[in-house]
Parts: sequence; C-alpha cells; structure tokens
Amino acid sequence: MSMPGHSSSGADASRPSANTWTARMSSNCSGCDMAYDFSGYNIFISGAGRGLGRASAIYLAGLGATVAVSDLDETSVNETVAAILATDGKACGYVADLGVRAGFLGAAAEFAAACGPLHAMINNASILRYEPIEEVSEETVDLMVGGGLKTVLWGTQAMLAHMDASRGGSIINYASPVSFRGYPRTAVYSAVKGAVLALTRVMAAELGPRGVRVNALCPGSVPTPGAVAYVDRAEYERRAGTIPLRRLGRDEDITHAIAFLLGPDASFINGAVLNIDGGIVAAG
Ligand SMILES: NC(=O)c1ccc[n+]([C@@H]2O[C@H](COP(=O)([O-])OP(=O)(O)OC[C@H]3O[C@@H](n4cnc5c(N)ncnc54)[C@H](O)[C@@H]3O)[C@@H](O)[C@H]2O)c1
Repeated sequence: MSMPGHSSSGADASRPSANTWTARMSSNCSGCDMAYDFSGYNIFISGAGRGLGRASAIYLAGLGATVAVSDLDETSVNETVAAILATDGKACGYVADLGVRAGFLGAAAEFAAACGPLHAMINNASILRYEPIEEVSEETVDLMVGGGLKTVLWGTQAMLAHMDASRGGSIINYASPVSFRGYPRTAVYSAVKGAVLALTRVMAAELGPRGVRVNALCPGSVPTPGAVAYVDRAEYERRAGTIPLRRLGRDEDITHAIAFLLGPDASFINGAVLNIDGGIVAAG
C-alpha cells in the first residue's frame, strides 16, 4: 500500500547517466572522506522502517537521492519518511510484506510511476530469530525465508522490471558473519544469509552483462532494534571486548559503505562481499 501523502514533490526529472555519477567533497569533510551526490537517483530500500534500513534511507536522502522507504510496519515507515521530509529530503513510503512477490513488485511499480526508473535496490529487510535446532518451527522458517531471502529475489525482480535497461544500476544485499561461521542457535538465519551470499554471486554473474552490479555487505554487531531484541547488553559488552577493533558497529559504518558501493568509485566492483565487522569474520 502506498502512502502518496508522504511522497515528496520536486524529484529531479533530468537524471544523469550511469557514468556521470558525480562525487564532490563533503562540506564537513574531515580529511579524505568523500560524500556522493545522488541527486536525481531513485533508490528502493526494503525494511527501511528501522535499523540499518532506516539509517541508510536517511543518509542517502541526505545525499540527494529520492528513496522508497518500505517495510511491514506502518508506524516505522511513517517515522522514517517524516525524518527525511523534515530535512527537505525526498521519500515515499510503502507499507507492504515484501516477502510476497506481488507486494514487492507492486510497491516498486508505484515508486517508479511516481518518481521514475530505479537506480538502485538495497535488499536490507530480514528477520532475526535465535533458537535451538530442535525448536525450529515451520512458521519460523517461512517467516525468515520470506523476510530475508524472498525479499532479495523479489527486490531483484523489481529492480530489473523498473530500472532503465539502457543504464543498468546497482543492487546491495545483506549477508552476515553467520554466512561464514557456525554460531549455535542461528540455524535458519545462517541458512538464509548463506543463501543470500550464494544468490549475490549468481546475480553478479547473471546481471553484470546487463550493467547491474550486485554486491553484499556483511555487517557485524550493530546494535539495531532488531538485534537488541536478541542480544542483551552484557553480550554486546563481551563482543566489544573481543572484536579485533574493540568496538561495536555503528550505523554510519554501514551507510558510508553503501554510498561507496553505489557510487562511481565502485564502478568495477561486482560480486564482492564487504565485511564491515571490525574483523569478526577474519578473526574466526
Ligand atoms: N544489526 C546487525 O548487527 C547485523 C549483522 C549482520 C547482518 N545484518 C543485516 O542487516 C540488515 C538490517 O538489519 P537490522 O539489524 O537493521 O534489522 P532490523 O530487524 O532492525 O530491521 C529489519 C527491518 O526489516 C523489516 N522486514 C522484515 N521482514 C520484512 C518483510 N517481509 N517485508 C517488509 N519488511 C520486512 C522489519 O520490519 C524491520 O523494520 C538485515 O538484513 C540483517 O540481517 C545486521
């Protein structure tokens, strides 16, 4: 369901071609960091009601993008869109179960009809559950496969259906340290995130010739609303003491990497997995 009342007006009608992404020095540049200008770009973000999805929606809108904020949860969609509009950013909100193909494709179609072709898809939505293997239920599997794997497939189809085929685009999927390592009680989540990595490789190979770059981010220990429901303060303190860089992840660690992967400096990066975890996976 779209919420046209949240759609911004004034999205840039003249969109640059893929090789004219422009990079500019940030006005608050503290040394060598670059900020990207995504003005005129339409970016769909699944699961953008809260957590890393919300943070990336706000960050990319701040860099000029028009963002589609989509999530199961209407209140959180409203809050994310309101935060963007309050800073003169451009956002449209879509409340949908993106694990349902028609729901995802319908939301993307509405966004494209309102704002123009998609330039990027951020397949961020996922559902976290921890439980022993013998307690895994069909309901849990269906929920997590729907939220974390089907959303990636449908998001990719939505991108292909609504991008400018002459220009291509970029897709970012979310893996996890569990894609690489066996943590007890994470059976379904690990299966989903392992599949997302496999899918990323296939997508990079299959869609590269069509000008679509597909990469995966692998965040580690960012205390988002979804994560803190399952990881308590003591466990986070323990993790902060064992992560090689001796701190937890922050929203900006992830959002800055997204901007890099979507921007011109990453134009030859396809099929990569970027660990943003302070060294969790490397340390084993
Ligand atoms: N936070 C971390 O430490 C961490 C670590 C590794 C990977 N990740 C990955 O990063 C991404 C973001 O994680 P987060 O911590 O911000 O999660 P979160 O739980 O805080 O947010 C996920 C959002 O996705 C939405 N969502 C889930 N299923 C949906 C569906 N079917 N349709 C529409 N929306 C749906 C939820 O409603 C929620 O708003 C996820 O893919 C997650 O697996 C996070």
